[in-house]
Amino acid sequence: MSNSLLIAGASQLLTLRGRGPRRGNSLSQLGIVEDGAVLVRDGLIAAVGPTAKVEKLAAARRAEKVDVAGRVILPGFVDSHTHLVHAASRAEEYELKIQGASYEEIARKGGGILNSAKKLRAATGQQLKQRARAALEVFAAHGTTTIEAKSGYGLDVASELKILSLHKELGAEQPIEIVSTFLGAHVVPLEFRGKPKGADEYVKLLTDWLIPEVGSNGLAEYCDVFCDRGAFSRAQSKQVLGAGLKHKLMPRLHAEQLTRTGATQLAVELDAASCDHLEQVNNGDIRALAKSRTVATLLPGCDFHLGLKQYAPARKLIEAGAIVALATDYNPGTSPTMSMLMILSLACTQLRMTPAEAIAAATSNAAYSLGRHGRIGSLEVGKQADIAVFEVEDYREIPYYFGVNTCWLTIKRGQVIYVAA
Ligand code: NIG
Ligand code: FE
Repeated sequence: MSNSLLIAGASQLLTLRGRGPRRGNSLSQLGIVEDGAVLVRDGLIAAVGPTAKVEKLAAARRAEKVDVAGRVILPGFVDSHTHLVHAASRAEEYELKIQGASYEEIARKGGGILNSAKKLRAATGQQLKQRARAALEVFAAHGTTTIEAKSGYGLDVASELKILSLHKELGAEQPIEIVSTFLGAHVVPLEFRGKPKGADEYVKLLTDWLIPEVGSNGLAEYCDVFCDRGAFSRAQSKQVLGAGLKHKLMPRLHAEQLTRTGATQLAVELDAASCDHLEQVNNGDIRALAKSRTVATLLPGCDFHLGLKQYAPARKLIEAGAIVALATDYNPGTSPTMSMLMILSLACTQLRMTPAEAIAAATSNAAYSLGRHGRIGSLEVGKQADIAVFEVEDYREIPYYFGVNTCWLTIKRGQVIYVAA
């Protein structure tokens, strides 16, 4: 049975048409259709264009109609960096940080990622799933239709596999698409610390046991490493990502967040899909990214939440020609937000990205970083009908309003998954 939906009457419809990835000036080309409409059929986009034209199509006349009455339509956001599955917030650490403790000090005292690992290991699968499902609903309510999700709060075989299995189950049970990433190399777990070669032993557990297990069971598409002071060195990261590649897990990296470790150069060397954070990059790193296919994913929510002053050099990256994407980095320690809208506001005011650049970075380039630009990230005929509608007249008002949710309607594969009250 055909299932058609005509969404019409947008003051602006941002198609983001064109082949990814977007570098330099092409990051601001949104392919805007004024008074636009989109026709959806069987979960795919059947037509896009001016309302007057699209509504005349025979299929449009038979379709169910949604009049968006002058609102703005865009492709659903693609959030290419999240730590979806975790057991609890770390509000107590938030308070300590406000009182002056740094993220690294808290981590050294057993807080931070180890704190989250302890809580995750104690939680049941059902508790973790319930929390993740609630978060996924909030993502949808802010216009996000696809997320990448990393493991990394388990840090032992059973708990890491539990998280990755939850990604699979959640992907099948609710509408948001989940792209799974194995981040066993988040930090060295407590039980390996204090031994002379503990970190190397843990890396060996990952490369010789966990990664082959994840790969052969198809539990993840990507492998990530937190390459930073207090986490993993560049050499250890290379070992882990190399093992991932052998098992068809494509590399992504947490790079140059707190200190510069050379992780960006490693990401480029390995042709990683994405290299994320980048607050501490130098000019050589920027040049390397600009010449590569590795996406520079910026996560300004972390700097905002941690109260750090040094944001990633977005302007330099864009001007050099790097492929820039934006993501929430939803996680309990550094960026507890599911709102891509908040990230767009931060990208504009703190990273000095224009509203157009920020929107393209959160849709088209983010889809490219997940290897899904042929299917999502733009509104073009034949692509998946992943659509978000905002309660604004001009797309620039999307980042302009901050701390409020302007999302009015979210559609995934042609199905309404969120409507504003
Ligand atoms: O992306 N940097 C490493 N991982 C997360 C933080 C994880 C945590 O503190 O729980 C991040 O910022
Ligand atoms: Fe992260």
